[in-house]
Amino acid sequence: MFHIVTGAAGFVGSHLAERLLGQGFEVVGLDNFATGHRRNLEPLSAYPGFHFVEGDIREKSIISRLSPSGKAKGSVFHLAAVVSVPYSVAHPDETMEVNATATKSLLDQSRQFGFQRFVFAGSAAEYGATGLNAVTEADAGPNTKHLSPYGAAKYEATRAVAASPMGVSLRFFNLFGPRQDPSSPYSGVISRFVSFGAQGKPLTVFGDGGQTRDFLYVSDAVDAYLVAAGLAGFSQGDGPLQGVYNVGRGQRLSILDLAEKIKALTGNTLPVEFGPERAGDIRHSLADPSKLLATGYRPRVDVDEGLARTVESLMAHEEATA
Ligand code: UD1
Repeated sequence: MFHIVTGAAGFVGSHLAERLLGQGFEVVGLDNFATGHRRNLEPLSAYPGFHFVEGDIREKSIISRLSPSGKAKGSVFHLAAVVSVPYSVAHPDETMEVNATATKSLLDQSRQFGFQRFVFAGSAAEYGATGLNAVTEADAGPNTKHLSPYGAAKYEATRAVAASPMGVSLRFFNLFGPRQDPSSPYSGVISRFVSFGAQGKPLTVFGDGGQTRDFLYVSDAVDAYLVAAGLAGFSQGDGPLQGVYNVGRGQRLSILDLAEKIKALTGNTLPVEFGPERAGDIRHSLADPSKLLATGYRPRVDVDEGLARTVESLMAHEEATA
């Protein structure tokens, strides 16, 4: 059986593809390298069951191009996206096309082609401004005021996915871990802090640092994907999921506290610098993950352990390339 992973050269997509390959599945990966990297495909290419197609999810009939004939079809894991909130504010039309319109088309194509499941990377940004309380899946609705085109587009796509019997949208809170690319000002905060910390540069906090996030280590996100597709043991054989599920730890951490943790881990003693608040930034974001926990799923790597692994991986990579 084969599965499709869109965004396979990305941070989370490459980890998911690697896990599926390790479990003996074939994987067809798609990426247009907008934010993904060829280096992330290297560990995947070691598996004979990995096939890579360079292309864009906006191409007509892309699912047919990704489906080798005569092989049993598993799930479509759709991760390819505009991933940055501030980028979406600068590029609203592209964000809508990629994150909403193309996603709905992929869902239709996956159904027509006879795939079993369509597992979509939803986002905490679908909830808009939420305050300090943890959000449940019902807290995003037609009246939600999204703070960015990113949040609005992910919400629109999730609505279509959740309305399909084969669809599940995993609303991820903030993911981190090895392979998250630190190289752009739009990059995820942990990748930037770890990279700057290790290089002996000051960490820059956008805004006052009192904003909070619910961070989840990447292998726990991969576990959630497997549960969603009915491929993991957590759910004791309950089968795949349908609808919307929050994926987070349900624990908040302020950006300033995060900066201090990473300074300690990287031995960086410089004072944190402050920059202007980011466009479209949500103040607080915290998951109520009860719905997913009821399946038996449990995050396995706490934030401190995940941060230590992320720092270690970056250091090992720098030694290897020095
Ligand atoms: C992130 C994800 C998004 C996901 C969402 C779910 C990325 C790039 N974005 O958005 O795909 O759907 O979580 O919640 O992974 N910050 C700093 N200094 C920096 C970088 C960031 O202070 O150098 C701050 C930002 O202003 C923000 C917080 O850290 O307040 C988190 O930023 P970021 O990691 O970009 O994530 P989100 O915008 O939450």
